[in-house]
Amino acid sequence: MWIVILLVTVLCSTSLLVNAFANDWFLGQGQWQVKHIEECDKPEQYPHRIQITHRKINRTHDAFNAHILTTTEINDTFGVQLIQYKEVDGGFKLIQQIANPNLCTFGKGFAGRNIEILFEKAGIDPPDCPIPKGEYTIEDFVIDYRPIISTHLYGDFQTYTYITYKNKRGKGQWQVKHIEECEKPEQYPHRVEIARRKINRTHDAFNAHIMTTMEINDTFGVQLILYKEVDGGFKLIQQMSNPNLCTFGKSLAGRNIEMLFEKAGIDPPDCPIPAGEYTIEDFVIDYRPIMSTCLYGDFQTYIYVTYRGKRVACGRTHCRFERTREDEDDGNDEDDD
Ligand SMILES: *[C@@H]1O[C@H](CO)[C@@H](O)[C@H](O)[C@H]1NC(C)=O
Ligand SMILES: *[C@@H]1O[C@H](CO)[C@@H](O)[C@H](O)[C@H]1NC(C)=O
Ligand SMILES: *[C@@H]1O[C@H](CO)[C@@H](O)[C@H](O)[C@H]1NC(C)=O
Ligand SMILES: *[C@@H]1O[C@H](CO)[C@@H](O)[C@H](O)[C@H]1NC(C)=O
Repeated sequence: MWIVILLVTVLCSTSLLVNAFANDWFLGQGQWQVKHIEECDKPEQYPHRIQITHRKINRTHDAFNAHILTTTEINDTFGVQLIQYKEVDGGFKLIQQIANPNLCTFGKGFAGRNIEILFEKAGIDPPDCPIPKGEYTIEDFVIDYRPIISTHLYGDFQTYTYITYKNKRGKGQWQVKHIEECEKPEQYPHRVEIARRKINRTHDAFNAHIMTTMEINDTFGVQLILYKEVDGGFKLIQQMSNPNLCTFGKSLAGRNIEMLFEKAGIDPPDCPIPAGEYTIEDFVIDYRPIMSTCLYGDFQTYIYVTYRGKRVACGRTHCRFERTREDEDDGNDEDDD
């Protein structure tokens, strides 16, 4: 189900993507307000339905009624996909796509206490996942907007929220096949030169040369665009952005960032990175801390470093996500390389 929705959505939106990011858009602190919640177009195509009505209480608060009928238990095998469009010149442009394999964790991280309050209103006891199959009626639920992420582009948005199930995803291991500069690297004010050398079947070493004329600190953000190889071509599957490059790097790659900084001679091995020239030799990525539940396959990832809403550096990688050997071999040491 997930794949189908995704490809359809992606195919009709890809052409808008590039334009959206070429603008100088700014992030800022602010407050969300939900204007409407409704079912998507052709709701009958989805096996689960949620009917929602919305009533304004006052300028800052709205109340929602919902009726949910689920024929299966909702647990950690359900994921979520969020596609966000921003109103621009009277139309809507795709600006962000977020997917998370765990609906419950994502909901709590995103909407905080609201989820618990919602579950209480629905009579789910304890107010947490898993949600037993059944029929739930929620009346006069008032969203508390305070815990909802508050650094974002300003404007009006249309967000499609898909609940996903049975993705062809699972536990596994990443492997970086290539890292290189993006097409037309001269368009970016910062450049990173990277070369890769294979050590053995599971490890590679990278050399990098980075020259930055500015201090790299919390004002730098990151944008990641992930394409998956499908039928010989690459299809957009996920787009993530984070206003803080350093925090994002550490959450995605864990200890690798600290080791990379140490190799580069950055002392202490943390952000901010002073302006200067850095040479990194024979850096071996430890793939273990890198998020390990994903779709299996080959990916092309574009990584953009952003500063004040503009892309200032770009790198791309070709990676593969595979089932871990240990799982496959099941204790059998035979090496079929
Ligand atoms: C709006 O309604 C909410 C929920 O009933 C209430 O907590 C809040 O104080 C109200 N705000 C105003 C400005 O009336
Ligand atoms: C999770 O939910 C699915 C679908 O409702 C169900 O088939 C599966 O057994 C559940 N898994 C666990 C661990 O309860
Ligand atoms: C591959 O190289 C890494 C880094 O040198 C090492 O830790 C690992 O044990 C090696 N693995 C194999 C299978 O040789
Ligand atoms: C962060 O980095 C930018 C660009 O290098 C610089 O202009 C700014 O002063 C730095 N901010 C802090 C708080 O150091």
